[in-house]
Amino acid sequence: MNELKVSNDMSAFAVPAALDEHGRLTEQCVRQALTMMDTHGLVVLTDLLSDAEAKIGLDLMRQTIEDPDRAQCAFASETDNLYLRRDFCSLPSTPPVTRFAATLCQRLEGVLTEYCGRSRPLLEIATFTSYLGSSHQYVHRDPSGVISLFAAVEDVSDQQGGTVFVPGTHAFGGSDNQHGGQASELMEMFRIRCNWHIFVHNFRKLWRMRTDPAAPLAPGEFRDRVFSRNWDQHQPNLLRFMLGKNSQFSLRKLGPRTLWKLYRHRAALGERFHLVQTAPRRGSVIIYRSDLLHAGPDNRSPHPRHIFGMSIARDRIDTKYWHDGYSPHPMLMAEPLCLGDLLDAEPVPASPSVLDHRLRA
Ligand SMILES: [Fe+2]
Repeated sequence: MNELKVSNDMSAFAVPAALDEHGRLTEQCVRQALTMMDTHGLVVLTDLLSDAEAKIGLDLMRQTIEDPDRAQCAFASETDNLYLRRDFCSLPSTPPVTRFAATLCQRLEGVLTEYCGRSRPLLEIATFTSYLGSSHQYVHRDPSGVISLFAAVEDVSDQQGGTVFVPGTHAFGGSDNQHGGQASELMEMFRIRCNWHIFVHNFRKLWRMRTDPAAPLAPGEFRDRVFSRNWDQHQPNLLRFMLGKNSQFSLRKLGPRTLWKLYRHRAALGERFHLVQTAPRRGSVIIYRSDLLHAGPDNRSPHPRHIFGMSIARDRIDTKYWHDGYSPHPMLMAEPLCLGDLLDAEPVPASPSVLDHRLRA
């Protein structure tokens, strides 16, 4: 996005995955990953999955996406779902899906168990697909007290909309004391500034799409994306913006006091916070603290972006809070799973490249 400075250099947040003889991350690798998670709120573990394992994940996701009865997630944007700009849906707890999730959890056990006890619930297993013409999500925090991961089952380019993060904006004991005791206020100002640019970017893009043969608008799509009254947290929806009906970003966020603070802190905001965009290679896994500021950008390429996602609670979680922020599949709701279940479950059989991975460690 031209208006926002976004770095594509993720090297400061990457740790090459090294596995021990049991197929778990080595102690040294876990230590490095935890340091990243604690310092920046996220870590990118490269080459955690072999190509064969990533393909298993991709096939499971494709099967779900092609199922007309799939369980779609509504938390991001009903309008994007309606016009097939995005397809976020939860995966059923079938044995192959559980095996794939178990493989990830077992490999990442040292990192996950630092934050989540064995009895903590699996909140969702989902696939997040975005297509050309989708809107850029607003910068937001997911519900707090959760560890989430994204697994790249194929290469994701920045044009396809690899997730954008604002490192160091996660909460921890005393985090408000940072930035001269102004951490919360400065982070919120930074978020508002980003979201203003995203609002303009989405609106301009939608306007251009009216005459763009590469991503033609469906009949009624422009009206719906700008004036819809549907649940819609991540659209340039003028109606919801003006009425203050969007909790992520609306006119309510732009009162005179806020505008003054944005002006007063304009230099500090640019110095203290930075947007970095991931472009994970196949097999990489991003783990992040759910309250870290982040956003799923729009897909600006003709190639669909697929990503596998999974979230585990760090503490007890209220059911309504859970279902408001995450989309557990009906099978998972009927038969809940916890981290311990996945750590004990049968994983995907090890492929030759994984065995090679262990020898290198
Ligand atoms: Fe999110």
